Amino acid sequence: MRRTLMSSLCLLLCAAAALAAEPPSLKSLAPPGLRIGAAINRTQTNGNDPIAAAIVILQFDTVTAENDLKWERIHPEPERFDFEPADRYVDFGTTNGMFVVGHALLWHQQTPAWVFAGEGGKKLDRETLLARLRTHIATVVGRYKGRIGGWDVVNEALEEDGTLRKTPWLEAIGEDYVAKAFEFAREADPAAELYYNDYNLWKPAKRDAAIRLVQGLKARGLRVDGIGEQAHWGVDDPPLEAIDAALAALRASGTTPLITELDMDVLPRDPDMWGADLAKKARIRAATNVYPDGLPPAVQERLARLYADCFALFLKHGAGRVTFWGVTDATTWLHDFPIPGRVNYPLLWDHAGREKPALAAVAEVLRNNVRR
Ligand code: G3I
Repeated sequence: MRRTLMSSLCLLLCAAAALAAEPPSLKSLAPPGLRIGAAINRTQTNGNDPIAAAIVILQFDTVTAENDLKWERIHPEPERFDFEPADRYVDFGTTNGMFVVGHALLWHQQTPAWVFAGEGGKKLDRETLLARLRTHIATVVGRYKGRIGGWDVVNEALEEDGTLRKTPWLEAIGEDYVAKAFEFAREADPAAELYYNDYNLWKPAKRDAAIRLVQGLKARGLRVDGIGEQAHWGVDDPPLEAIDAALAALRASGTTPLITELDMDVLPRDPDMWGADLAKKARIRAATNVYPDGLPPAVQERLARLYADCFALFLKHGAGRVTFWGVTDATTWLHDFPIPGRVNYPLLWDHAGREKPALAAVAEVLRNNVRR
């Protein structure tokens, strides 16, 4: 009896020690209904980035493919699909019990030129482009039916003023191209969640346009399961009040707000960065690459506070998912955007995969969430 008691006590102490050594993961702290994840690349699924892969498995319950499901990667030629990296991505997610997100079926970028070329040198017409879109969606969504749980069906269809972006999709098909994409995706996997995804939805004109767009789709009888605010934000912008108002508006419109591509640019922005010529870019790079050797503690703290404030808003407005756009600072796209060749620090793990203060700050907000 005494020995049984002693061994039970030992087990309890060991479990407590293990818990103390291993802080709870973000996924375990999140309230029911909120998935937390990251965008991943083939380096995390093929063993080349084991540090990031381990973080993903430990911390997250959803993944998004940062690049490998984009049209140019998976369907580079009319009759050629390259499924191998995407298959590995989906296997990685499902094997680890995660909600797997597909990104993205229709976008004006990263789409091979053949998609927008007319037959036999003629101008691209509606029926040709619709047929290509339907084949693409049927093949890709169909392949992962039941395994990819949600799709960014249409990505970035809106201009900043809320009008439809002038793309070959709009030009050749007309305004109903968005509806057609949702229709084809629903046909291909009736059970998958389908989303509209865009950036800068914290700006009222664009956010209201996204809401109108989705309401229009619903009025046609299409099911839309969420509006994704990409959330490529920065330490100076957007104001928290704007995020608060945007999430409230999305929620009030009857769709679940999703934060689909979260990161926080810590480097200064220059209004002239966009589209600057090479010489100008070099000058702006030199002036704005302000932390080449590491992030100063004061900025770490600022980043941590900002992440905490944003997560408080995500909880307040019942976000259904928060996906970070990357895992560690080592491989963030923000080293090369909007100016190539700078050193950025937008995520919760640093360049070596060590936890940043922002991780503890986010965990703390989740831990204290009253909804739990
Ligand atoms: O993998 C190749 C490499 O083999 C090659 O040597 C190198 C030369 O350029 O390119 C590498 O591919 C790059 C890829 O990122 C991986 O680093 C592509 O050129 C580059 O275009 C691609 O950029 C991606 C970008 O979308 C365009 O597809 C970024 O990683 C990705 O973070 C970014 O993600 C987008 C979302 O899809 C939509 N929302 C905005 C977000 C940020 O731009």
